[in-house]
This record gives sequence, structure tokens and C-alpha cells, in this order.
Amino acid sequence: MILNTKQTYFQFVARDVKKSYWTGDIEIKALDGISLKVAKGDFKMILGPSGSGKTTLMNILGGLDSADSGEIIINLGNGKFKDIRKFTKNELTNYRRMYIGIIFQFYNLIPILTALENIELAARFSGISNPKRKSKEYLSELGLGDKFNRYPNQLSGGEQQRIAIARALVKDPALILADEPTGNLDSVKTNEIYKILKKLSEDYNKTILIVTHDEDMANKYAKEHIHIKDGRLIRNQEKIER
Ligand SMILES: Nc1ncnc2c1ncn2[C@@H]1O[C@H](COP(=O)(O)OP(=O)(O)OP(=O)(O)O)[C@@H](O)[C@H]1O
Ligand SMILES: [Mg+2]
Repeated sequence: MILNTKQTYFQFVARDVKKSYWTGDIEIKALDGISLKVAKGDFKMILGPSGSGKTTLMNILGGLDSADSGEIIINLGNGKFKDIRKFTKNELTNYRRMYIGIIFQFYNLIPILTALENIELAARFSGISNPKRKSKEYLSELGLGDKFNRYPNQLSGGEQQRIAIARALVKDPALILADEPTGNLDSVKTNEIYKILKKLSEDYNKTILIVTHDEDMANKYAKEHIHIKDGRLIRNQEKIER
């Protein structure tokens, strides 16, 4: 791949993050005190049973949902540390647009836009220069150079997910979050997607967190795993300084 990416410094430390959902007066502790550190270039898998809090964690790190307590400090290398929990609405929108690329299990492409238009829309939102040219480059790099004008329903699942990856990448995010990115794909396509993500991490030092149920894939592609159960970490290589 020949992607033109800026090598932004990036690190974040989450400390004691808690999040509950309430159904009437019944509390569901989705995250019950999670602490973790993510540095530039990390490629980590998040594993855990259904309902353990993986999506909740990703959504909170990506600024799509908010924690009830704890800190999520980001350091963008400009000497400033910011707690995303204290962001204003505008700062949070900016954080999501500029720094975070999200890849979902069901791709979440816009069905009435072509492959190229889906990428271009994200590119324009993030305010990058030459959005159309860059969108084409990313699609080509992901092997979809001859399918710019196809609509999502004219593409296979693996192709749609590659478009979703291009869409996440085009804004050159500091952090890529993928929630079960291959949950909907067969094993050949699953390997293809993991290889792409791994290559992004190796060749471009991209910071990538991937939620998966698939222990085999996690072992095959990543050295570091984060295991979550009942909203808590059950195994994590790193100790967080307190
Ligand atoms: N919007 C919500 N309202 C109420 N409860 C919720 C909501 N979102 C998540 N939960 C609950 O919080 C817990 C954690 O959910 P979460 O989606 O983070 O799990 P997960 O690990 O991603 O599961 P899966 O592997 O099935 O995707 C679960 O008990 C879930 O039922
Ligand atoms: Mg989930």
C-alpha cells in the first residue's frame, strides 16, 4: 500500500471507566472500572463473551457514547492532555471526525451512495484536502479500483467491508476502532480483512483496536489481547500507573 498518512503522535489512557445502563430501576453495569492504555501503533484485540461490555467500551473510546465516571485522557503530542469526558459538544464532534475511524460489523454504508461517494462524504466531513482524489486512492489501495461506481448492494460482504475500511482510513484517523469487523463474513474474507488491518498497523504504524469473538483470529493476528468479562478486564498486559 502506498497510503500517504501523517504520523500523528497518539496515546490515550483510560482509568477506571464505568458505564451503567438502566432499565427502569435495574442497573446493568456495562463497564465496571476499566483501565487501559493505548499507544501509537498498538494493534490489539478485545475479546470477551456477549454482553461483556466490548461495544460499550469501543463506543466510549470513540466518543459515540459517554462514560458515567473515570477518565479518558488523550495525548496528541502537542503537550496537551485532554479528558474526552470533559469535551464540549463541538470538541467531541471534532474528536470523532478528525481522530477516530470506526469500522462496524454491518458496514453501515449509505445504500443510496456509490462506493466512491460513501468514502468521499467521510473525507469531506473531516475537512481533508483533495477528498475525491484521496477517496479514489484509498479505494484503489483496497482493491476496489474498478468498483467506484457500484452501490453497496452490488458488492459482496468483503467488498463492502473494504469500503468501510477505506471510509475509516480516508481521514487518516489517529485511532481505528473495529467492532466485530468480520462478524458477517466467511473465513476467507475474514482473513482478508484481518490481513489488511494488520498491514495498516505494520506498514503505517496505525493504532487499531479490534473487537472479536474469534479467539483463533485474535491469536493469529495480534500479540496483545484485552479480555473483558462483566465489564471488567480479566487479563491485560499493561499495568496502569495510578
Ligand atoms: N442501550 C442500552 N440499554 C440498556 N442496556 C444496554 C445498552 N447497550 C448495552 N447494554 C447492556 O450492557 C451490557 C454490555 O453490552 P455491550 O453491547 O457492550 O456488550 P458486547 O460485549 O459488545 O456484546 P456482544 O459481543 O454481544 O456484541 C449488556 O448487558 C447489554 O445488554
Ligand atoms: Mg458488541
